Amino acid sequence: QAEDGYRLWLRYDQVNNRVLLKQYQKTLQHLVIEGNSPTLQVAAQEAMQGIQGLLGKNLSHSATDIKNNTLVLGTAASSEVVKSLQLQTQLQGLGPEGYLLLSTKHNGKKITVVAANSDTGVLYGTFHLLKLMQMGQSIQNLNLSSQPKTSHRILNHWDNLDRTVERGYAGFSLWDWHKLPDYIDQRYLDYARANASIGINGTVLTNVNANSLVLTEEYLLKVKALADAFRPYGIKVYLTARFSSPIELGKLKTADPLNAEVRQWWKDKVAEIYRHIPDFGGFLVKANSEGQPGPQNYGRSHADGANMMADALAPHNGILMWRAFVYDNNVPEDRAKQAYNEFNPLDGKFRENVMVQVKNGAIDFQPREPFHPLFGAMPKTPLMMEFQITQEYLGQGTHLVYLAPMFKEVLEADTYAKGQGSTVAEVVDGSLYNRKFSGMAGVSNIGTDLNWTSHPFAQANWYAFGRLAWDHALTSEQIADEWLRMTFSPNPQVVSTAKNIMLGSYETLVNYMTPLGLHHIMGWDHHYGPGPWIKDKPRADWTSVYYHRATEKGIGFDRTKTGSNALEQYAPHLQDLYGDPKTCPEKYLLWFHHLPWDYKVSSGRTLWNELCYRYSAGVDSVRQMQEQWQQLEGKVDQERFKQVKSLLAIQAKEAKWWRDACLLYFQTFSKRPIPAELEKPE
Ligand code: GCU
Repeated sequence: QAEDGYRLWLRYDQVNNRVLLKQYQKTLQHLVIEGNSPTLQVAAQEAMQGIQGLLGKNLSHSATDIKNNTLVLGTAASSEVVKSLQLQTQLQGLGPEGYLLLSTKHNGKKITVVAANSDTGVLYGTFHLLKLMQMGQSIQNLNLSSQPKTSHRILNHWDNLDRTVERGYAGFSLWDWHKLPDYIDQRYLDYARANASIGINGTVLTNVNANSLVLTEEYLLKVKALADAFRPYGIKVYLTARFSSPIELGKLKTADPLNAEVRQWWKDKVAEIYRHIPDFGGFLVKANSEGQPGPQNYGRSHADGANMMADALAPHNGILMWRAFVYDNNVPEDRAKQAYNEFNPLDGKFRENVMVQVKNGAIDFQPREPFHPLFGAMPKTPLMMEFQITQEYLGQGTHLVYLAPMFKEVLEADTYAKGQGSTVAEVVDGSLYNRKFSGMAGVSNIGTDLNWTSHPFAQANWYAFGRLAWDHALTSEQIADEWLRMTFSPNPQVVSTAKNIMLGSYETLVNYMTPLGLHHIMGWDHHYGPGPWIKDKPRADWTSVYYHRATEKGIGFDRTKTGSNALEQYAPHLQDLYGDPKTCPEKYLLWFHHLPWDYKVSSGRTLWNELCYRYSAGVDSVRQMQEQWQQLEGKVDQERFKQVKSLLAIQAKEAKWWRDACLLYFQTFSKRPIPAELEKPE
């Protein structure tokens, strides 16, 4: 089937297990849905479609008639049945988006209930019920509830208006601006379904390197059409706003955030947007970063810029997400320190509806970075996590790498901001400092490719982002398990073999790309493939030699007191821990330390030999991934089997390319042999 990848994790193929199939068929015979909001309608439609596929039969559908084995979807406000079940106490704690799945009785009739406080909660619960069946779990005696840990769970599309996608590896932008607003592609609705199924409730449609054109009336009508299409699925639309728009669109002489005319221009523009889109989410802004305009062009601070836009959005309940990804080659300071230096002093200076969006990693979405030091350092400001789902630095659309372990590693990192146990996750979900807003953004990896994400397994990263934004306590394994059962098959051999491949893949990639804390040694600009030799570029911090600092004496970036002292931006406990190479976790060794080639690491090997081992282990592991995948021939559909097989072959070739290139290059400094027992680089 050519559409095998298109259906993502919402395949709804008929359940194979006969016992379960019987149970499901018996339990779900009728559907009652009271109320007919657009969201309840899509919930009902999804339930019908899912059950039709999974159980191979249609449900009888009625507005009120409760028979035995009825599925009831509703809120206490819209549904008499839900109201009569007296679920107030249970629902109370679940917030606006949480839900409850319950097997119970109504007037003596057995029913299954999906109840929530809002229609969107009902939709989320409906997806959960379908998921139980997709995964092959019992739906008898249900009594489970779920609610999101963060309030804003948002995809960031780096999509340009000409449909190219910055750092996009899966085709062109989904948004067909040319045919909008009149043509609503079915794909928009499938996109919305997929997002709703994992609880994503916002989408920034446009690139952070923004084009002010999207704020013109002509484009706003198109944006409105998308917002209308997504609304039933609980998804709000956001836009990136170019700071200089008042000049470009408003013909003003300045974009100074303290200028009265500029402020008025933004107020009017925002009011215009809300006339079209009454529930518009707000703006995401990249300012004074990599050449983008911003408040500093006028001698103003990031807070001045953010607050001006936040003031325009506040009367409409919009929020402003201001990115902390800033660095400047002209500042004679370690790039890793710059965002903190700029933003930390601004804590407490932002309006209530501002969230500062902090990238995963102070450098730039590297395969492995220690957590960004801003987390825990701005107690008065809600900080959003910005993860990159698109694998800019991690093999792009070609390499199989399951990112949940990376996301989890960072979320679980302890900032020690309020003593031990102050994790990044608690900063992000707002619980550490009792923040009203909280959020996670994921730079999307999807495009017009038939399977959305280029690599069939890259779908898992979209899925994992949504699941972790909803509940960061889920484990990588749980998420992989869910995704595999739904996306490939609940067959235990498929699940266990593919899960093994997924769970090891992140560490494998780090080994063959940037082991032991190495970073930013990728090919120039495109960031694909090795390039540790890159130097002499327009900016020092766009070269590789800036980061690895290899010489005949040793390798690594000294970020301790004897070096850039980026370490001072972390809590005292971490300064001690990371500051000593003996206690610094080895995964961050060369991030924080410059060490001699003969330095002994924990394995007893020299640093040079350890590098050789790590790079070689990375290559070996990819070869094992290939062997494991081969065992699944005939157990998953042939189309995706072949795709993954071919992609793994490329990955094996390129892992070797990474190993050989990096070891041969670093060997010109280390002047030491590759350990005899390892495969020789060519
Ligand atoms: C990276 C990426 C850019 C992107 C930037 C950002 O540097 O390579 O393409 O614009 O991040 O996050 O703003």
